[in-house]
Amino acid sequence: MALIDLRSDTVTRPTAAMRKAMAEAEVGDDVYGDDPTVHRLQDRIAELFGCEAALLVPTGTMANQIALRAHTQHGDEIIIGKEAHCWRHESGALAALAGLQTHMMADASFTADDVRAAYKGGDDPHLSLTRVVAIENTHNMSGGTCWDRARLTAVIDAAHGLGLAVHLDGARIWNAAIAGGVAERELVRGIDSISACLSKGLGAPVGSVIAGRRDFIRRCLKLRKMYGGGMRQAGILAAAGLHALDHHRARLADDHANARALAERLAGARHVRIDPARVQTNIVMIELDRGSPAAVVERARASGILLGLSGAHRIRAVTHLDVDRAAVMRAADVIAELAAAS
Ligand SMILES: Cc1ncc(COP(=O)(O)O)c(C=O)c1O
Repeated sequence: MALIDLRSDTVTRPTAAMRKAMAEAEVGDDVYGDDPTVHRLQDRIAELFGCEAALLVPTGTMANQIALRAHTQHGDEIIIGKEAHCWRHESGALAALAGLQTHMMADASFTADDVRAAYKGGDDPHLSLTRVVAIENTHNMSGGTCWDRARLTAVIDAAHGLGLAVHLDGARIWNAAIAGGVAERELVRGIDSISACLSKGLGAPVGSVIAGRRDFIRRCLKLRKMYGGGMRQAGILAAAGLHALDHHRARLADDHANARALAERLAGARHVRIDPARVQTNIVMIELDRGSPAAVVERARASGILLGLSGAHRIRAVTHLDVDRAAVMRAADVIAELAAAS
């Protein structure tokens, strides 16, 4: 029986067409700036986001951490949403590499007033200076939710009014764009730095990008080398990213529809607490009012369904390129059965 892997949208394997594009990529040494395919990808990303420049890096973690380091000095403070990936799931890099302290908001999304209330500035020697506001769109830990554009605009304006930079962890900005029916450049308008992943819903095997102003990307280039992220014939990876942008962006709508269908099927299941209306993109958070989520995940594995745990209390299922509607519905049946038996 083939496994149905819903642990993450990072588990996809490159398609035959993507492998062909990778095999045929024109390459050079990108640390010398010689790789034409990397340049093509970076130009394409800059154009898509309406930014001056972009930089290819190996991972979303490195993209976030380089960008945040480039905005700050050690000891500065960053404002983040609740359970932001750059804080919760990047091995403490925010403290260890960027040397930042964190002001975490009560929710994943927050308001301009929240930013003004959190801000620390002036010359009080007791205080760490706030330098950056980081947004996550879509927000992983709250189930792939999208930021409201009007609220985001107000947050950006408030941050800029206080002299703060705004960073976007846009690992899944592609999903937010498809869900909202708008271009990526609309969603990132006004934001100073963007990190985005090619290796999640888009299905590339490796690769993330940072985008922003030319002088900012120049600083990121130096930090990329410092962090060990300079890659040589990286055009092979950039070719996968370009192929993904051309062929796998529009189809994210299928992943969103599959996630919604999964949630709708589970909404009627015994002992499952889920609101399908909260499923905006490709991440489904499943709560149980009885039994142990870990036990359900373990038993599902025995039936060939791989799921994730999000904290101790929730099961996480993520739809992607390598699971179709039939696979997702089979997973839903198994989860419903196991939850009912909890
Ligand atoms: C919102 C978000 N940001 C950043 C990352 C980090 O990406 P990577 O696993 O490539 O380091 C992830 C990975 O899941 C993520 O979900």
